[in-house]
Amino acid sequence: MSNVVVARELARYYQVSRGAFREPATLKALDGASFTLDRGKTLAVVGESGCGKSTLARLVTMIETPTSGSLLIEGQEIAGASREVLKSLRAKVQIVFQNPYGSLNPRQKIGHMLEEPLLVNTRMSRAERSERAREMMANVGLRPEHYDRYPHMFSGGQRQRIAIARALMLSPTILVLDEPVSALDLSIQAQVLNLLADIQEKLNLAYLFISHDLSVVRHIANDVMVMYLGRVVEQGTREDIFANPQHPYTQALLSATPQPDPERQRQRIVLKGELPSPLSPPPGCTFNPRCPLAFERCRVERPELLASHRSLVACHAVNDPPAASRAA
Ligand SMILES: Nc1ncnc2c1ncn2[C@@H]1O[C@H](COP(=O)(O)OP(=O)(O)OP(=O)(O)O)[C@@H](O)[C@H]1O
Ligand code: SF4
Ligand SMILES: [Mg+2]
Repeated sequence: MSNVVVARELARYYQVSRGAFREPATLKALDGASFTLDRGKTLAVVGESGCGKSTLARLVTMIETPTSGSLLIEGQEIAGASREVLKSLRAKVQIVFQNPYGSLNPRQKIGHMLEEPLLVNTRMSRAERSERAREMMANVGLRPEHYDRYPHMFSGGQRQRIAIARALMLSPTILVLDEPVSALDLSIQAQVLNLLADIQEKLNLAYLFISHDLSVVRHIANDVMVMYLGRVVEQGTREDIFANPQHPYTQALLSATPQPDPERQRQRIVLKGELPSPLSPPPGCTFNPRCPLAFERCRVERPELLASHRSLVACHAVNDPPAASRAA
């Protein structure tokens, strides 16, 4: 089976308290995302802070359950799945965070840290666990003598290699990478991205790669999903999104990233205004207060995600342009 993740209208809402005398409000952190992810492929999820990227990560890693929608991991629906099924599926999906330092125990040697998931989840002997830890260290470019060292003895890039090795210990099929290189210097970012690409090819892994920065996913993504305030605004192949971004928000994100060919550098589109509060999003298209193309309809009617060229786009100006601009 090549589809290892299938999500349909996946949503996660939170009830947020607004003080003793007011009803709690509903915050739609993720409001209906549909996508598939295949073995050996990368789906990039891109958008500004608070658009719902980590919420999606928590659903796919089964740390949280969806409010609604369907989520199949390796063909199994996780809503209503038994504890045994969930336990075995959880081993298949592993996560790497932006800052691994928080999750690395400062008093534990790297080798033992890597072996811990094996101790908990398998019946491997001590020698087998140690052998596998050393094998994974080699896979991520760590040296044998690192086995007995502590986290503080490593650089940021090396610590991210340790986090990747740990995520691989239980032979997952899916890695959720939540801003895996955002805290690293540019030169180290490239090394870690190359490592991730090598590992993906070697182990035929599926990656859900989360980033606020489109330029980070330019080489690693097969498909790209652009999100704004909990909703998908544009979705397509890497080639289509980068060569022909259609949604004004995608265009703005892309205009802020350096182009490989300076001749083709897009004019920088600076978005006006602040990101609205997700607790009281604007009516109609939630992007309308910041959108350079907004027109009357955008303030009253929410655009659906519809096929346009080879991508999916949620924008009235793209899917059903106003008469004046059609004539122009
Ligand atoms: N447990 C929670 N309770 C209430 N609101 C939450 C909870 N978790 C997330 N949110 C809200 O949901 C929205 C989406 O959050 P999320 O962490 O998914 O965003 P993100 O895209 O990962 O942002 P960042 O780039 O800053 O990591 C935000 O408005 C956030 O405040
Ligand atoms: S629907 Fe309207 S406001 Fe929203 S992105 Fe399209 S043009 Fe802009
Ligand atoms: Mg996040």
